[in-house]
Amino acid sequence: MNDQEILKRKSAEKAVEFVKSGMILGFGTGSTFNHVLYVLAEKLKSCEISNIVGIPSSEKTQKLASELNIPTSTLDNFPILDLTIDGADEVDVKLNVIKGGGGAHFREKIIAQASKKYIIIVDESKISKSLGEKWAVPVEVIQMAYQVELQFLQSLGAEVKPRLDSEGNLFITDEGNNIIDANFGVIKNPKKLARKLEKRAGIVEHGIFVNMADFVIVAKESGIEVLKKGE
Ligand code: A5P
Repeated sequence: MNDQEILKRKSAEKAVEFVKSGMILGFGTGSTFNHVLYVLAEKLKSCEISNIVGIPSSEKTQKLASELNIPTSTLDNFPILDLTIDGADEVDVKLNVIKGGGGAHFREKIIAQASKKYIIIVDESKISKSLGEKWAVPVEVIQMAYQVELQFLQSLGAEVKPRLDSEGNLFITDEGNNIIDANFGVIKNPKKLARKLEKRAGIVEHGIFVNMADFVIVAKESGIEVLKKGE
């Protein structure tokens, strides 16, 4: 593991301390969240934790959970989750977050909203003063509205980039939509921008998560910091 992976693992280990036997968990997506699955698999094996069920936010997470023999289910069976843990692409000082670097933010937000507690885990490279300093906003659009919403995002001043897959085709999300990465530069008012995007019929979901995280666990070279909403 390189230094960044070690930090990701440390943030995952800290988050798993919040997991208790019998919990229904929301499972995020991405390289940081994957560490949570590895840590959970170890704890299940050693019987330190038992009887948990995870609701995955992507096909990729479902696959890894299955490979690690971690029980999973669906929101149809468990519409209320005890705790969701997930990674993020950028976190600001108010704990607002940009997600969607892996294209899973639509399902990730559904799972986060269904959860009693929501924990974001990051290494220190993801922290910014303001959102947009480091990351564009992933915007999931239905295929029919692709051009319309591309132009709409440009009209808001964003520099837009179509998300492509490894073969150079338009990326298709687990829900069968496309993603436009919209770079707004520094976002002064994430809530206002989020509301503007939510008014558009062709935009299914954007990657700005305003005031949703209860805790952000930041793994730094100097140690772990747990940031709490409202502090
Ligand atoms: C998936 O769509 C994303 O929201 C991820 O949670 C986010 O991109 C963080 O991913 P990494 O942990 O791989 O950086």
